[in-house]
Amino acid sequence: MERELALEFVRVTEAAALATGRLMGRGDKESADDAAVKAMRMAFDTVYIDGVVVIGEGEMDEAPMLYIGEKVGAGTPPQVDVAVDPLEGTNLVAKGLPNALSVLSVAPRDCLLHAPDIYMDKIAVGPGAKGCIDLDAPVERNLRRVSEALGKKVEDIVAVILDRPRHDHIVKELRRLGARVKLISDGDVSAAIATAVEWSGVDILFGIGGAPEGVLAAAALKCMGGEMQGRLAPEDDEEVERVKEMGLEDPAQLLLMSDFIKGDDVIFSATGITDGDLLQGVRYAGNTASTHSVVMRSQTGTIRLIQATHRLDKKPHYVARSFSTADRAG
Ligand code: FBP
Repeated sequence: MERELALEFVRVTEAAALATGRLMGRGDKESADDAAVKAMRMAFDTVYIDGVVVIGEGEMDEAPMLYIGEKVGAGTPPQVDVAVDPLEGTNLVAKGLPNALSVLSVAPRDCLLHAPDIYMDKIAVGPGAKGCIDLDAPVERNLRRVSEALGKKVEDIVAVILDRPRHDHIVKELRRLGARVKLISDGDVSAAIATAVEWSGVDILFGIGGAPEGVLAAAALKCMGGEMQGRLAPEDDEEVERVKEMGLEDPAQLLLMSDFIKGDDVIFSATGITDGDLLQGVRYAGNTASTHSVVMRSQTGTIRLIQATHRLDKKPHYVARSFSTADRAG
């Protein structure tokens, strides 16, 4: 993919963040999600790609926009797979909590894992501990190997994990081993990325979260030289069938980086919605708003942080409200 596309993708996550950021703290996660989805969908129209959504807002019958299989972009080459989460952390925006992001990832056609909206068991680390994790190994072995790789004592390692009863056994084990634990209420994409950011203070991610979020986090970690392993966690026969329909013969397959992303050509873009470990949230002041984004390409490994100031009076479609066809034309 042409490197110029990277900036186009930042515009897309910026648009979603600007639209939903206004709804921070209103306790209305549905409206916040809706604003992000509409703005992202509209922004894609201006990008010169022939894209198909492989990770999106759900199946065609349950999501009006950015559903799996939907075509996005201007319809011109290159042919690409598109993974999106216009609002990663709906509760975070609704409550004004940290680390809500608008994220997307794009790779050449058929190169991104097609994963249904079910759970996935995950383990992730940054570049310093790449090659040291094993989803099937006990927590203790993973911690010890990561601590050796990073040259830190186990008690200096920070493990991040979603605060859910399903993770009680992992948290108990982490505490027994003396590791430092960061429990998060939501947002495991941001948490996975944090493992690859030296100053984030996070070394390893454990636990079960959304499968779509897993693919997006893997794309970011691929660009950053980190590693994620995953295994889909279907909860009933219907979910097993959905996994198979998406092309995974064995739903219990251990997913490695090469399963998440084929080849070495993936772009990842994220814009902060609320303030977070990596990115600032959107700030509004009269007719202007500022956004903070990161865009990365796996081919070069370049990680670019982009601070942008937007003139909202010149971009009325960037303001959260219902979007009309006339807006699209503008
Ligand atoms: P949403 O943006 O869809 O609300 O997802 C937030 C999130 O915390 C993800 O980061 C995570 O992967 C998933 O939800 C965990 O799911 P659950 O809340 O069901 O444990």
